[in-house]
Amino acid sequence: MSLNKVAILALSIAGLAGQALAADQTPIVSGEDEFLWNCAECHGFEGKGDGPLAKALIKPPADLTKIAERNVGVFPEDTIAAMIAGKESVMGHQSFQMPKFWERFERSEGQRGFDPAEVRIKAIVDYLKTIQAP
Ligand code: HEC
Repeated sequence: MSLNKVAILALSIAGLAGQALAADQTPIVSGEDEFLWNCAECHGFEGKGDGPLAKALIKPPADLTKIAERNVGVFPEDTIAAMIAGKESVMGHQSFQMPKFWERFERSEGQRGFDPAEVRIKAIVDYLKTIQAP
């Protein structure tokens, strides 16, 4: 386990003190930490598509700082949430292994320290909005 992951794990454990939250409240684990923990291995620690696993994939992971740029300046919030959840298929997505996070997150629902999948995906989408290239 890399030092980064240890740090993130420590942060996640620090978050365990929180109690279950309703869907519209602040997430226990921030979108940034969710991103580092679940996405950075492929998409890179800055979201630029250059994570340590990227080279092992058939299709390179997308540069997530350019989502708005690829969509004429508009960040398509609902589409991105559905793509992360694995509920929306995207051209090319069938041919490689972008995990279906909805299913993955649902497995942790109800466990101490884990928000509902919906809250976690919303937190990640909100974080991605903050890293869009100007
Ligand atoms: C196992 C590697 C892997 C992991 C882990 C992963 N992704 Fe991906 N992701 C990919 C690949 C590969 C693509 C496809 C790129 C393409 O089709 O252009 C992709 C595409 C995407 C896209 C579509 C981008 C676009 O504009 O079309 C989004 C959004 C995305 N990922 C977000 C995430 C988020 C958020 C996480 C963490 C919750 C995550 N991914 C975790 C591999 C991964």
